[in-house]
Amino acid sequence: MTPEQFLELAIVLPEPLVLVTNDGQVLATNQPVADMLKLRRQELQGKTLFDLVTEPASDIIKYLQACSTSRAMILGSLTLRINNGQTLICRTQGAVIQPWSPESSALILLRLENRTVASNNFVLLNQKIDELAKEVQKRKQAELELQKANEELEIRVEERTTALQETLNELQLTQTQLIQAEKMSSLGQMVAGIAHEINNPVSFIYGNLHHAHKYTQDLLKLIEIYQQICQDPPLEIQKQIEEIDLNFLIEDITKIFDSMTAGTLRIQEIVKSLRNFSRLDEAELKQVNIHEGIESTLMILDRRLQARHDCPEIKVIKKYGQLPNVTCYPGQLNQVFMNILLNAIDALEKSAVNSKTTDNPQIQITTELIDEKWIAITIADNGLGIDEKVRSKLFDPFFTTKPVGKGTGLGLSISYQIIVEKHGGQLNCFSTPGKGAEFLIKIPVNSYSNPI
Ligand SMILES: Nc1ncnc2c1ncn2[C@@H]1O[C@H](COP(=O)(O)OP(=O)(O)OP(=O)(O)O)[C@@H](O)[C@H]1O
Ligand SMILES: [Mg+2]
Repeated sequence: MTPEQFLELAIVLPEPLVLVTNDGQVLATNQPVADMLKLRRQELQGKTLFDLVTEPASDIIKYLQACSTSRAMILGSLTLRINNGQTLICRTQGAVIQPWSPESSALILLRLENRTVASNNFVLLNQKIDELAKEVQKRKQAELELQKANEELEIRVEERTTALQETLNELQLTQTQLIQAEKMSSLGQMVAGIAHEINNPVSFIYGNLHHAHKYTQDLLKLIEIYQQICQDPPLEIQKQIEEIDLNFLIEDITKIFDSMTAGTLRIQEIVKSLRNFSRLDEAELKQVNIHEGIESTLMILDRRLQARHDCPEIKVIKKYGQLPNVTCYPGQLNQVFMNILLNAIDALEKSAVNSKTTDNPQIQITTELIDEKWIAITIADNGLGIDEKVRSKLFDPFFTTKPVGKGTGLGLSISYQIIVEKHGGQLNCFSTPGKGAEFLIKIPVNSYSNPI
């Protein structure tokens, strides 16, 4: 670049630019340089860099050398001698625009920058950085607050979800109770109704049976007397005696009356059990014999225990201990026995049908007085048993492994509630899968009153 070309370019640029040779000869400057030095442009003609700055010549040459031999821009610092006798420290950026050759020196373009302006820019820059840092800080703070708010919101949502879940559980429990109460009360009512309906005609039969027996005996006595007096009866009577096989009839009729009496007594017993089971009249705490409750429940379940085409008879082994009368809600305890026994029967039937592994299905009922305050009732079956996955959900309302229409999944959850909440007792299940299940009921001899 010639000084003329440089001037053409530099004249339009607002920055102070100097074109120098590598030995310090100023070839051209633009107006901003003259302004900086408070000189006129003409006054700069023929000057060297050594005339314009205060640094030692050796330093200046070293800087120019560095500029002329580097491809990059070299940063430096020069102190300008201002015309008014003052000095002005400038930052410089020097770049070679024509390298050194044996024929000509290297040409270097120097860009000057007033350090105060630069440092003002620096201050501005610093301020900007500071503002930015503050802004970043603010944003970080806002982000933290947002995160905190989010966390709080999450906690509140979680709390609300827990509260909702609790309400849902409570509602489910109430629903469970209602369904079961409805189920049991209709069963109880039906049982009580049937018991009542049967009781009247049976009492009627039983009451008359005695008279019928007596009358028959009287008639037989009369026949006997006839036979003694009339040893050779007419042919027609003899024929009739043979036809009705009088001797057999006389022998059999007593047996018939005996079995009719036994039958009606049995019906009366069943009616008593049905009434005992339903215990509609006993919603209050009452002192009862637990064994009677178990017996009446077994009586109701009797048909389910008998042998069927796909399942042999289920034997019930009773190991009753000496129990005092227990203060409890008898109707509700019977429901518990019923639910647990029904489950045991279902499990035994299933194992008989599915795997045919249990050839002697049995339910063992054990009762015992643990101490003067507690009794225990164990109902154990030798069915398929319960695996851990099922066992963990056993007492959950609506949990069932039975097909739709067969189980509602309420039996055990209601039983749990009756034993634990109503009687302040404990209900536990122990099982070895494949070998059977055992339900252990513990209740206080004197249950506290905790009506649901
Ligand atoms: N003795 C048992 N042997 C094997 N599994 C059992 C036994 N007792 C209960 N279970 C399991 O526990 C589940 C829940 O029993 P629960 O009595 O609560 O309901 P369910 O019998 O299915 O229905 P519901 O009693 O309402 O008719 C049963 O579906 C069954 O899988
Ligand atoms: Mg059940």
